[in-house]
Amino acid sequence: MRPPIPRFFHWNLGCTTNFNLRNCATRLLFQSIHSNAQGSIGHYVDNSLLNTYSTSSCGILREDVAKDGASNMLVDTFGRLHTYLRISLTERCNLRCQYCMPADGVELTPNPKILTRSEIIRVANLFVSSGVDKIRLTGGEPTIRKDFEDICLELSKLKGLRTLAITTNGITLARKLARLKECGVNLVNISLDTLVPAKFEFMTRRKGHERVMESIRTAIDVGYNPVKVNCVVMRGFNDDEICDFIELTRDKPINVRFIEFMPFDGNVWNAKKLVPYKEMLDIAVKRFTGLQRIKDHPTETAKNFCIDGHQGRVSFITSMTEHFCAGCNRLRLLADGNFKVCLFGPSEVSLRDPIRCGADDDELRKIIGAAIKRKKASHAGMFDIAKTPNRPMIHIGG
Ligand code: GTP
Ligand code: 5AD
Ligand code: SF4
Repeated sequence: MRPPIPRFFHWNLGCTTNFNLRNCATRLLFQSIHSNAQGSIGHYVDNSLLNTYSTSSCGILREDVAKDGASNMLVDTFGRLHTYLRISLTERCNLRCQYCMPADGVELTPNPKILTRSEIIRVANLFVSSGVDKIRLTGGEPTIRKDFEDICLELSKLKGLRTLAITTNGITLARKLARLKECGVNLVNISLDTLVPAKFEFMTRRKGHERVMESIRTAIDVGYNPVKVNCVVMRGFNDDEICDFIELTRDKPINVRFIEFMPFDGNVWNAKKLVPYKEMLDIAVKRFTGLQRIKDHPTETAKNFCIDGHQGRVSFITSMTEHFCAGCNRLRLLADGNFKVCLFGPSEVSLRDPIRCGADDDELRKIIGAAIKRKKASHAGMFDIAKTPNRPMIHIGG
């Protein structure tokens, strides 16, 4: 007799039955936020929270930076100051997550058209000298780039940069972590969508669950606090694991972040697979009755919660059902040198081409400033996003 097909194999066909293996284990209202000249955010968030959970400054117009002509480049027509740059270092990845890329892969930009290390540092320097104080390295998988550590080291030396962060799938991270700390990486977010190895293999089309778990443990051991664990929740795939993920926060400094499934080119998104924030919260509250909302930094993507007696925290990233575009302070530099002002906005402008044609910093600032001024107030809503061509997530880096 043929063995039964595990139920999660139907997931990609839109099946909503649960996987039945239990695991073992602004525009920020400028006026309403009290910002002072240093850009701290007054009583909106208590400082201890800020120190632990958010290291970037506020996305609203900071007077100190706004006085400086160069940084007007970073302000959009809605008064949002963009102080957070996400840099995708590569389009390549050692996993093939279904929600991130199509089954038959993506077309890769030929290597000579990918930004070199010195081009990345030049652009980063330009942004940091204009007021960006947080850079997150993404991909593809950023750690597979050969000069990854050198890039981290050089970025960490940029005067004015307060946070150097990475988002990684954790496959090759464990053995690199100690060195990355020395290279100035001070925040690590690790993607993990299931605690069940067989489901991991199904979703990522590769093995490696234990390696990711090992990376999470090592990140804690070398002192990252919190270690953020990004979990994209998909109906019928891992919505039965929400409480198991929350258990991880009991005695470890882990911040589990449940992310609403978002549509990108080639990821077979449909609304039925999306588990809305409110539904995830209901599931969590039933079991963890002490779940309590904490104040979030105005530029946070996440709605953050703590649980009495738990070391770690629980968050929800609600891009689809309750977007947070009003507080957006994010910009994106893609591996091919394209600059993107919104995750879901299809418009992009190349910085690589002018750089390679000899543009000076002022010319680059003009191009960047003009793109930021074209940024829309918010994304178009999940159904429109699903219909609008964008890149696959693996090209954008989240
Ligand atoms: P922190 O810097 O720790 O707050 O992390 P982050 O949320 O900025 O970055 P991460 O790479 O860990 O992304 C977590 C989730 O948030 C992913 O699903 C991203 O796609 C999503 N995300 C990141 N930036 C944005 C954004 O600007 N808009 C939206 N809608 N989602 C975003
Ligand atoms: N929806 C939500 N989050 C996604 N990520 C990748 N693709 C999607 C998607 N379709 C997450 C990854 C990673 C971060 C950069 O973005 O899990 O943690
Ligand atoms: Fe790779 Fe991350 Fe995309 Fe998965 S989500 S394919 S790990 S870039």
